Amino acid sequence: MGLTNCKRKVAIVYASVTGNTEAVAGILRAIAQEKLLEVSVWKVEEFSLAELPHYDAVLIGTYTWGSGELPREMRSLFEAFERLDRKELVTAVFGTGDSFFAEFCGAVNRFRDMLFVHTDLAATLKIELAPQEKDYIRCEKFTESVLKKLNE
Ligand SMILES: Cc1cc2nc3c(=O)[nH]c(=O)nc-3n(C[C@H](O)[C@H](O)[C@H](O)COP(=O)(O)O)c2cc1C
Repeated sequence: MGLTNCKRKVAIVYASVTGNTEAVAGILRAIAQEKLLEVSVWKVEEFSLAELPHYDAVLIGTYTWGSGELPREMRSLFEAFERLDRKELVTAVFGTGDSFFAEFCGAVNRFRDMLFVHTDLAATLKIELAPQEKDYIRCEKFTESVLKKLNE
């Protein structure tokens, strides 16, 4: 199993203003590297949409804005996945939010519904504000679901 993993290219693309989602991206990067995946991490503003077809898996990280809305900077990535329509691309979406709001992690829900239609969605993960120690195991399970899909 390890040998098949080592050539898999994974991108983690995220949006973060106050650092919570960025912190989760960092945890996921460390876990994915332990599992011998080739991982690159990108702020969404720095990610080239033209590169999307060159990855075996893309992990998307987003905070939620407004009333359960996508952050503005995530919109072009969202639309790029809609256009790409590559059912074999493994994806997963994670995010941080605040359960004080009516729709907790609404942006994760928006991505989940779209990625389920257009890609091979492996997992979703919602974290309350900054990741805590108990979230590490959830991040591991999230990454394992991606690996499982890649090895199918
Ligand atoms: C104006 C505003 C609106 C927000 N709306 C929501 C929301 O609808 N649902 C939610 O779960 N969190 C909402 N949040 C909370 C953020 O998504 C949360 O703080 C998140 O962890 C920020 O991520 P970041 O630190 O990566 O920027 C909102 C925050 C602000 C400031």
